[in-house]
Amino acid sequence: MHRTRLLPFLTLSALGAGALSACLDGKSESAPARAAAPAVAAPVEAKPPAPKPLTPEQLTHFFRPAPPAKDAKPAPQDTDAQVALGRMLYFEPRLSKNHDVSCNTCHGLTTYGVDNKPLSDGHKGQKGSRNSPTVYNAAGHIAQFWDGRADTLEAQAEGPILNPVEMAMPDAKRVVATLSSIPEYTARFREAFPGDKAPVTLANAARAIAAYERKLTTPSRFDRYVAGKHDALTEQEQRGLQLFVSTGCTTCHNGPAVGGTSFQKLGLVEDYPGLKDAGRFDVTKNEDDRGKFRVPTLLNVEKTGPYLHDGSVSDLPTMVRLMAKHQLARTLTDAEVDDLVAFLKSLTGELPSQELISAPPLPPSTKKTPKPDPS
Ligand code: HEC
Ligand code: HEC
Repeated sequence: MHRTRLLPFLTLSALGAGALSACLDGKSESAPARAAAPAVAAPVEAKPPAPKPLTPEQLTHFFRPAPPAKDAKPAPQDTDAQVALGRMLYFEPRLSKNHDVSCNTCHGLTTYGVDNKPLSDGHKGQKGSRNSPTVYNAAGHIAQFWDGRADTLEAQAEGPILNPVEMAMPDAKRVVATLSSIPEYTARFREAFPGDKAPVTLANAARAIAAYERKLTTPSRFDRYVAGKHDALTEQEQRGLQLFVSTGCTTCHNGPAVGGTSFQKLGLVEDYPGLKDAGRFDVTKNEDDRGKFRVPTLLNVEKTGPYLHDGSVSDLPTMVRLMAKHQLARTLTDAEVDDLVAFLKSLTGELPSQELISAPPLPPSTKKTPKPDPS
């Protein structure tokens, strides 16, 4: 069913096309002048000529970082002490009520920052209602969570610690009591936040975790292609990239993370069946935002399934067909799906060194450390 929602999409794609034709115009001078019409009759049912493939410069245009906003805050300056503390806290199960869940439980760093489950198991094996997105490359997103309810990684990190179905700590006081009962943590917070009188706080724990997360990036062959090394992608991957742009995937999946730059409706041009989650609407209470989600990054998408906010789609070819149908009103051929999937797999990057992403040794509890609470 095609509805009025097509309109905003068309506006978006018109923007994309505008940017593109600007690129194309630059090249048009060298195009040969069109020859006079040949005297032979045109064949019946002649297909329109296939569009000319875009040059690598035109293709990569969509994946460049946006120019910084005028009011942009300077990037946070993370110290080595903050990153090292953040790594410990990321793997720290004592930040959960029953000392059995850490960030790494649902965002396993050796499994590309996810748990590969439709929905994650949190405190007492409870499941939330959304799929866990990857923490890799998350720092570049306009906002965190599927509905964008946290503006920054710092704001995000406090969420799961206190979330009753995730790590389930009752309050910030319990977090501080736990961390300050362990002398090594007290010392490390002091080192990481030297200006603070009482450095062991939930906010500083979140700040350190965010500093660590900013190190979690995965450079890929696609990055090398965008940087100008045009043999970094195979021919099939390049065909897939052409399709990714010409089909219109880049209206939503753009920027260096191939996503993460906007909120968009799932089922933009054709209703998505069984959609229950109101998405961005829960945050803004604006009717226009009903069913919108923060567009996910597609970096490492080969490894981060199952897909969508509810983890309801398990394989990439199906996901690509669904996107073409519901977001773009396009039916893809099998060959087109193969090429698009090949391109998406070229977005799989290298994980950071084991030194950064393996579990660090954690300091022992003391008599003062609050006990695990399975209730
Ligand atoms: C029980 C599983 C679970 C645990 C534990 C957990 N998360 Fe998550 N995480 C999720 C889920 C599910 C979402 C998506 C929730 C939503 O969008 O409403 C999420 C979202 C995120 C995001 C947003 C990514 C994006 O692209 O929007 C980041 C970053 C993140 N978590 C980091 C952390 C950190 C840091 C910790 C530890 C302090 C942590 N998570 C603990 C399951 C978990
Ligand atoms: C109108 C915007 C829009 C367009 C166009 C679009 N997408 Fe998406 N895409 C989204 C949104 C929004 C989501 C997340 C929806 C959700 O979780 O419910 C998504 C999710 C995905 C996912 C799942 C990622 C994950 O981690 O869950 C893949 C893969 C994907 N898109 C590929 C594509 C491809 C390939 C195309 C072009 C054929 C495309 N998309 C076109 C907005 C768009």
